[in-house]
Amino acid sequence: MEMLNTEKSRSFYEEAIDHVPMGVNSNYRLVLNYPLYLKRGKGSKVWDVDGNEYIDFNMAYGAMEVGYGNPLIVNEVVKTVEEGSILGFEYCKAIELAKIIKKRYNVDMVRFSSTGTEATMHSIRIARAYSRKKKIIKFEGHYHGSHDQLLVNVDPEKSMVKLPSSEGIPEEVIKNTLIAEWNNLESFEKIIRENKDIGAVIMEPIAMNMGLIPPDKDFLKGVVELSRENNITVIFDEIKTGGKSFSGASDYVEVEPDIKVIGKSIAGGLPLSVIAGKREVMSILNSGRVAHGGTFNANPLSVRAAIVTLEKILTENAFYKMKRLNRMLTRGYNDIIEDLSLEASISSLAISGTIYFHNKVPKNYSEFLNVDVEKWRNYFSKMMGRGIIPMADYDEQWTLSIAHDEKDIENHLTIAENTLKEIKSL
Ligand SMILES: Cc1ncc(COP(=O)(O)O)c(C=O)c1O
Repeated sequence: MEMLNTEKSRSFYEEAIDHVPMGVNSNYRLVLNYPLYLKRGKGSKVWDVDGNEYIDFNMAYGAMEVGYGNPLIVNEVVKTVEEGSILGFEYCKAIELAKIIKKRYNVDMVRFSSTGTEATMHSIRIARAYSRKKKIIKFEGHYHGSHDQLLVNVDPEKSMVKLPSSEGIPEEVIKNTLIAEWNNLESFEKIIRENKDIGAVIMEPIAMNMGLIPPDKDFLKGVVELSRENNITVIFDEIKTGGKSFSGASDYVEVEPDIKVIGKSIAGGLPLSVIAGKREVMSILNSGRVAHGGTFNANPLSVRAAIVTLEKILTENAFYKMKRLNRMLTRGYNDIIEDLSLEASISSLAISGTIYFHNKVPKNYSEFLNVDVEKWRNYFSKMMGRGIIPMADYDEQWTLSIAHDEKDIENHLTIAENTLKEIKSL
């Protein structure tokens, strides 16, 4: 099967590296030898600078569940730009959005930021100010954005040896960050036993930066109970999970944190993040002595796009349809793996899923280290070469949008079957 020609993307890359370090504006976009340079998107598809069409299952790392060029969003954004895309003081419609979020996500008070990184950074400040304690626990393999204190043990080469996940982060800055193992309540309990002064624990309630690893039954309950007993503020980083079903992870995990951080898909592709939680905790901001600011916070463009997204596009009915398509994709992959006796496994939930080139779905980061990354790269480059963007990286997952249909799933599975057959015979 002939592969798409991406020579123009290659030459864009060769030009870009002279002006932009690595040729990309987010390190994670360089997965193969050069990235795709994209020109536009519509519905479930994107087109690159060579004019190739791709059915996209990455959907901007999960941010585009409304589909590219959604007419409701386009309309609202154009109207809003005409009225002023940012007005300086408080935008009147931010209250309407706060009320929508409160009802949908079962929280009492809400503050808006623009990106996930900002929101998780502020959430730990709020938690520390509230608990008046300085240590924070995070789980290995969980990603909370690109700020220093949580950029620790995100993707270490060796499991459970504490290390910053970037050069340029001094040891002193991560001194108060403690690392626990996902799905291992004992590791969490031990940290609490051995440390004083723990103010917060932050986690992705379903781990989505090492594929898709749900919490074991009772693990999250145990974490929350132990935290409550020890006055530790619980933060759910729902930057991804918040948009994967109607009310985010609480639809699945049946425990409520003290603070939820939500982002990515909730504003129809515009930058908006939410720090929300219990009145008692969020009220710590009332004194004005706990800093949370941002020029673009709750700007009219993001606020109005979010209102339309949550009220008119990502409805219960939309999730019903997207979940059905996800089950179809998941079943198809499982059948292919079984028919080919391939050493691979699928993890899937709500509207997302992932393929691991390993015979079982990992439970934590140390098991995730067993996946065959070279095989994944081979699968990824072949799928891309045949017009399917299956996901963004081996630690990522596919996301369905309201624009995908059964034909997209059938095409994805046909190409996946051919690709996996080739991988099997290598
Ligand atoms: C769970 C989680 N938290 C935080 C972030 C950071 O969000 P942003 O890239 O908008 O800063 C991400 C990004 O992928 C994420 O997956």
